[in-house]
Amino acid sequence: MKSKKALIFGITGQDGSYLAEFLLKKNYVIHGVKRRSSSANTERIDHIFDSINFKSKNFFIHYGDITDSSSTLGLINKIKPDEIYNLAAQSHVRVSFDIPEYTANSTALGSLRILEAIKNLNLSDTKYYQASSSEMFGKQTKGKSQNEKTPFHPMSIYGVSKVFSYHTTIYYREAFGIFACNGILFNHESPRRGPTFVTKKIVQALVRIKLKKQLTLSLGNLYAVRDWGHAKDYVESMWKILQYKKPDDWVIATNEEMTVKEFINICAKKLDIKLIWKNKGIKEIGIDKNTNKIIIKIDKKYFRPGEVDYLKGNYYKAKKLLKWSPKYKSNDLINDMIKYELDLHE
Ligand code: NAP
Ligand code: GDD
Repeated sequence: MKSKKALIFGITGQDGSYLAEFLLKKNYVIHGVKRRSSSANTERIDHIFDSINFKSKNFFIHYGDITDSSSTLGLINKIKPDEIYNLAAQSHVRVSFDIPEYTANSTALGSLRILEAIKNLNLSDTKYYQASSSEMFGKQTKGKSQNEKTPFHPMSIYGVSKVFSYHTTIYYREAFGIFACNGILFNHESPRRGPTFVTKKIVQALVRIKLKKQLTLSLGNLYAVRDWGHAKDYVESMWKILQYKKPDDWVIATNEEMTVKEFINICAKKLDIKLIWKNKGIKEIGIDKNTNKIIIKIDKKYFRPGEVDYLKGNYYKAKKLLKWSPKYKSNDLINDMIKYELDLHE
């Protein structure tokens, strides 16, 4: 049987790298888009693609940029993929407050550029996956989990941009018959998570503190609740979404909830750091009982002008129809992330 062709925008990111590995195992030919960068940005995929050794003959990388219509259209025209995964975005919520216009250009308009290309090239058999986000739910009532019917109330330009892409995806499906789908993915992490996202920042810092290579960790809001899954599980859902009999929109989550502070406490315990919390608000500190030193501080620069306090996803629809469920529990995710950091220091 002929191999399917997948085009992945955002292949150098956390999810792009796991998705590429997953699809290669399914015998896909992978085309990935990377941005021009003055320093190396292919660390997460170098084990698959190596420009010297050509480790995989089914793996091709192209320069492109989701903010550039001509390169986006040109690549789609040249490759004529069976499946397009749009994972490219300025994906950091905190950074979207600093660079709102660029965030909107990449995270909102990027989807429009790809969908316009599919439409104008008459690629009626090409399927489209949009990396939508639980950040779209934004302001929510504590205790109530979110599903496909929960109204959006974004609290950042990142969230607003993802809502634009979400509706654009549905519009191209309904107006032009494109097989275009939204995966509304809740937070998912891994050893490959970018270092400024909170889980990676915590794990990296606590491991270094344990090994006496770092003194303190500064954080923002410790009381936000998130539903953290493992990226490896979540890329499988992306593929399943495009294999379903009809295009649709899907919540992908674990239905587990945890505050940032609980995440820290679990990591500290696993690293045998005896953590004692003192004070409240901006003065809150975490003290290592063994050394009596302050190892966690609050820094107001990490607070956001708009915060999302509570995210917990109900993935009942995906479980029932896609037969998708997360294999990793939060405990397995944390073990995986800690092991990776510890191994780096061996
Ligand atoms: P990530 O690690 O930040 O990866 C983002 C990818 O997009 C990188 O490959 C990045 O390239 C690329 N990119 C950024 N701007 C681009 C541009 N202008 N043109 C082309 N490529 C560009 O994010 P991730 O965690 O893998 O997430 C993948 C997608 O899912 C993102 O759209 C994100 O918003 C969304 N999402 C993520 C989560 C989550 O919890 N991880 C949850 C819901 C939705 P560089 O490597 O060059 O920066
Ligand atoms: N990054 C960061 N750094 N977050 C902190 C910090 C800190 O020092 N201190 C506290 N937090 C809190 C944030 O305020 C937020 O409530 C929570 O930790 C999680 O922050 P991030 O890890 O940056 O993730 P996010 O939830 O804002 O966004 C991620 O998940 C979205 C899905 O809901 C990103 O992956 C988005 O791309 C994704 O769409």
